[in-house]
Amino acid sequence: MYSYTQEQLDSIKKVEATRAERLKNLHARMTAEEKDAVLHEFHPDYIEGAYETLKVGPNKGDKVLHELADLLQGKSRLDAKKIDLKNPDYDVDVLVIGGGGAGSSAAITAHGNGANVMIVTKLRIGDANSMMAEGGIQAADKPNDSPAQHYLDAFGGGHFAAKPCLLEKLVKEAPDAIRWLSDLGVMFDKQADGEMVTTHGGGTSRKRMHACKDYSGAEIMRTLRDEVLNRGIPVVDFTAAIEIIKDSEGKAAGAVLQNMETGEILVAKAKTVIIATGGAGRLHYQGFPTSNHYGATADGLVLAYRAGAKLLYADTLQYHPTGAAEPTQIYGALVTEKVRSLGAQLVNKNGEAFVYSLETRDVTASTIIRECKGRGNGVKTTDGEGVWLDTPMIDIIGGEGTIEKRIPAMMRMFGKYGIDIRKDPILIYPTLHYQNGGIDIDADGQTTMVENLYVAGEAVGGIHGRNRLMGNSLLDIIVFGRNAGKYASEKCKNVKVGKLTLSHVKDFNNELKAAGVNTGKVSPQLLPSYKRGDM
Ligand code: FUM
Repeated sequence: MYSYTQEQLDSIKKVEATRAERLKNLHARMTAEEKDAVLHEFHPDYIEGAYETLKVGPNKGDKVLHELADLLQGKSRLDAKKIDLKNPDYDVDVLVIGGGGAGSSAAITAHGNGANVMIVTKLRIGDANSMMAEGGIQAADKPNDSPAQHYLDAFGGGHFAAKPCLLEKLVKEAPDAIRWLSDLGVMFDKQADGEMVTTHGGGTSRKRMHACKDYSGAEIMRTLRDEVLNRGIPVVDFTAAIEIIKDSEGKAAGAVLQNMETGEILVAKAKTVIIATGGAGRLHYQGFPTSNHYGATADGLVLAYRAGAKLLYADTLQYHPTGAAEPTQIYGALVTEKVRSLGAQLVNKNGEAFVYSLETRDVTASTIIRECKGRGNGVKTTDGEGVWLDTPMIDIIGGEGTIEKRIPAMMRMFGKYGIDIRKDPILIYPTLHYQNGGIDIDADGQTTMVENLYVAGEAVGGIHGRNRLMGNSLLDIIVFGRNAGKYASEKCKNVKVGKLTLSHVKDFNNELKAAGVNTGKVSPQLLPSYKRGDM
């Protein structure tokens, strides 16, 4: 149980006192100049001291966060290990690394295309950020909307940096992604006449967020997992990929695997490989808490980088504006943007709204940090400070029962600690949520520098540019998962794998030595470390 402190209770009184007025007068939208100013001063992506320049590899000369640099330039787990590449333990057409939404969509599609496909995952299928997604999935499938409108919203929200060919695919294939999921059995929220319920997200000009209450990811992942299992696609779980294997022509040809329990090393040979390993929140960049699942440690970026693939926008991360700031047991857990879509406002310790609630995420997060660190308007919490998310407004605007019906998971998450979000506002602070950057791919999902190596999901860079809108991640795991599955299974029909080799790993190690780099880290990291002193 959690009891608000006296200081917090005094502040709640001020929030309540301004509520009626705030309901009448929404906070004004920010100008482009105001957004730029707050981003530059308060967004964590702009803290220069948090970054360093890579000394080796395809992105040599580019800056990335220290924590990622340590892993990208870390030592291989294979050091001093003898690997028998001549007698692979598995030999498949398509090897999918990762058991989340992107990996599952890729595997289902490749399987449907007749390929012999196998999923390997370091935890279990479904242990992924996809499963934890809450608010929804975007698709322009209503008469007042269009993929072009969706493109403009996402392109602007991503600071005009998205790769046009990727973003175009994302928005054009969105309506079909919803149909595909619906046909597989996803129970989207619908009105009595069967029409899908859609809402706004930050930065959307139309209501195009389709949702399954506030556990959209769990419902989608449940369905995809069932489909993988029903099709009999082999899933090798608790087994991590620790290096990409190439063939004598320098093309991807499988992966070295490691059993997470026994440490046993296994070799998987494949005609094409799909990296779908997800994000990096568990690296806790810049000391932020995270909304991510336990396995989000940037493994795919490390695997691809060592194999010679280039990264795009690896310097940009998403700090979701509303991570739970209290109680401490759920510090950093996601409080879905849908809470603001339904009417809850962001309010400081004095009861003042300080931002329009549905600005894009990077801007909103920056204003919260400004309120706390720059203006002294934060509310003290167990772990630092936060601002209020005025949840009781939702039932006032939408009618009694709206919270229970539309965001039951939020109600339960706080209810467990004795906080009734229908009656009291909640404390939030930005939490590390998403890896905007990742591995550079072309429109077929293939990496731009390593043939037969494909990528899907959060490990991809460039779909969203330098900031992502809500609901475009659940969308990209489906669109680009299916895309990678389709093209990797097509491609493998004409692939003849040459002699397997790991010489690129040796070459990378030599590059590190020549550059005098020793980060003291072994990578991929695979699991986070929560030892005292590591945090
Ligand atoms: O706020 C949310 O529900 C998160 C959605 C997303 O990251 O797309």
